[in-house]
Amino acid sequence: MERTLIIIKPEGVQRGLIGQILARFEQRGLKFVGLKMLQMSPALAEEHYAVHKGKPFYTGLVKHITSGPVVVGVVEGRGAIKMVRTMMGATNAAEAAPGTIRGDFALEIGYNIIHGSDGPETAAREISLFFKPEELLDYRLASESWLY
Ligand code: TYD
Repeated sequence: MERTLIIIKPEGVQRGLIGQILARFEQRGLKFVGLKMLQMSPALAEEHYAVHKGKPFYTGLVKHITSGPVVVGVVEGRGAIKMVRTMMGATNAAEAAPGTIRGDFALEIGYNIIHGSDGPETAAREISLFFKPEELLDYRLASESWLY
């Protein structure tokens, strides 16, 4: 089983989309093993987006992601990293396919609603930035055993 980090960005929270976005992952059959709301500090945002340091959009990105509360979650499932990326849609929301989260809810690259880790190493690094090991829960869903 793979784990990946998702962040519902400030604009997703502002627009009241938390429930709809979480529901998409649940409906698909992915499982949340960690979930919380927080406002990112500049230090945390800089660390999270370190790979983009020096790029023209970096300062604005850090400013925006720290501008209000976000929802962070750890999603678990077979192939969860790629599955979440597929469900998110293209980074540039204007080009994201309808049916994806960005394609259904967003128009702009700088306000593209959701973050998802882009690979196994990134996922491990990002999960550890936001969650202590004891905040991630090991449990089975009823549907895995008795719901059919
Ligand atoms: P990136 O990691 O390339 O995309 P993704 O979020 O799909 O993994 O970029 C991180 C965020 O930076 C992206 O979600 C939105 C912002 N961004 C811009 O504002 N302008 C840009 O040109 C790019 C590439 C990203």
